[in-house]
Amino acid sequence: MVTLIDSHQTIATSTRLTLQTEEIAQGTMAIRCLDWDRDRFDIEFELQNGTTYNSFLICGDQVALVDTSHLKFEALYLKCLNQLTAGKTIDYLIVNHTEPDHSGLIGHLLEISPEIKIIGSKVAIQFLQNQIHRPFAYQMVKSGDCLDLGQGHLLQFLSAPNLHWPDTILTYDSGPQILYTCDVFGMHYCDDSLYDEMPQLLEADFQYYYDCLMRPNARSVLGALKRIDKLTIDLVATGHGPLLLHQHQEWIERYRTWSEAQSKAAPYVAIFYADDYGSSDRIARAIAQGLHKTGTAVELIDLGEADPHDVRELADAAAALVIGMPPQTEHNILLPTLNTILAATHNKQAVGLFETGGGQDEPIFPLRNRFAELGLTEAFPPILIKTAPSAVIDQQCEEAGTDLGQWLEKNRRQRRDKPLDSSLDQALGRISSGLYILTARKGEATSAMLASWVIQTSFQPLGLAVAIAKDRAIESLLHGEDCFVLNILEEGNYQPLMKHFLKRFPPGADRFAGITTYDANNGSPILADALAYLECRVLTRLDAGDHWIINCSTNVGRVAHPDGVTAVHHRKAGNHY
Ligand code: FEO
Repeated sequence: MVTLIDSHQTIATSTRLTLQTEEIAQGTMAIRCLDWDRDRFDIEFELQNGTTYNSFLICGDQVALVDTSHLKFEALYLKCLNQLTAGKTIDYLIVNHTEPDHSGLIGHLLEISPEIKIIGSKVAIQFLQNQIHRPFAYQMVKSGDCLDLGQGHLLQFLSAPNLHWPDTILTYDSGPQILYTCDVFGMHYCDDSLYDEMPQLLEADFQYYYDCLMRPNARSVLGALKRIDKLTIDLVATGHGPLLLHQHQEWIERYRTWSEAQSKAAPYVAIFYADDYGSSDRIARAIAQGLHKTGTAVELIDLGEADPHDVRELADAAAALVIGMPPQTEHNILLPTLNTILAATHNKQAVGLFETGGGQDEPIFPLRNRFAELGLTEAFPPILIKTAPSAVIDQQCEEAGTDLGQWLEKNRRQRRDKPLDSSLDQALGRISSGLYILTARKGEATSAMLASWVIQTSFQPLGLAVAIAKDRAIESLLHGEDCFVLNILEEGNYQPLMKHFLKRFPPGADRFAGITTYDANNGSPILADALAYLECRVLTRLDAGDHWIINCSTNVGRVAHPDGVTAVHHRKAGNHY
């Protein structure tokens, strides 16, 4: 069922997906896709009031579309866009952020108009190249870059990395003074009201959204606010929920207040990298991913763009620093910024270095010596990347990030007064379990870990569940449809394997060196000295606080010695393994 209403136009389907268009400035249309019944976003984000996906069409002498919509709006959105453009060519698609709720229809748009030029950050363009399997014209933009559409629509771009993905930019139209922010300042609130006419109805959703998406990157929010402060804004055109017109400055100030409070409270790691050289940004993101697994906040700072004052502040207040060095030939360009970092650091911090230039003379080692002289702890051995980026390098860097996060957490734990084991802990510790080694291979990446929290969960299908701490390296190889092997250790014969896999491995190290293995049907390693093994496939993951519960099925298994007995693990307390 489709209905059309004039001027304030609505196109509706019977599945409670509706679409609203309205002119918000001269030559500027809002296209709001209203998803009334969506009740979940990502794993952890429960929605009470549905959501909207907002896209905008700006018509000057040239035409630009700001973001698209979710795939579920394919028919409604493309029909509406066709009506609004009335045969005019769309020259540019500005991608403020590439998560599928905003980029889900880019492929469809390119099919209709392959000549559209996509504008986005370097990270956004890289993400899209992996997401859309067809060539497209593009332009990478940074803070300060402009695009003049004519007829008063002069667009300016602002970097806003980590709000809430590393790809994010904001787009400011200096004619009507509209700031297009995609996720930033949004809320999951589905309503016919185009603007924030009833702020009191929106406050709870606005804060919940900030808490889920923005709070973990509070310092990045403050960095983006500094760039926003230089603009004169009449309207904040968000990608979710109502547009912020009536009290947009108050909404912006709330982000500032919450982020200032959060950034004082939470320790963080500052990752400095040089976006323009080699694969520095990819390595930085992989290390950040490893840190996020340990719950550590991260600030990613592009050395080529950062303000020296911000660099000094971020380097001084960080619990640890990671620095990606440019190649020797480019080193001198960034020398003043590196000196600023050196002047701001102190001996309570840890530091990790990486280099992606692939040259012969690594500038990384003199810098490493300087940090050692200043008394900083080395977070991980220097990472020297001399080949093209790959999944194995990503894994090495992610593990380096996880190591650093674990080191910081250990230090924090030691500083906290920890009560002795309570009677509850002692009672919980009476739950015993078997001893297992999980092994997994995904492409070229392999990993393994000792596990004991394993149970069978069903007969039909044959199911089991494994609890894995969120900061374990193998966690990255255990997402939906991934395969692994559960190796079951044998009583009287488990010590050598247990000792081996309990060792602390350096980032990227081969965990199977010196261990006899053979390949399972699903490609993961089987340990020759295990009592039995099961080939497993991941079905779902459940968030259980500091662990993931990996729910899986199994269809192949074998026992090496029919009389063998499974090794059993007895504990004294339930607050450790
Ligand atoms: Fe609304 Fe991060 O996507």
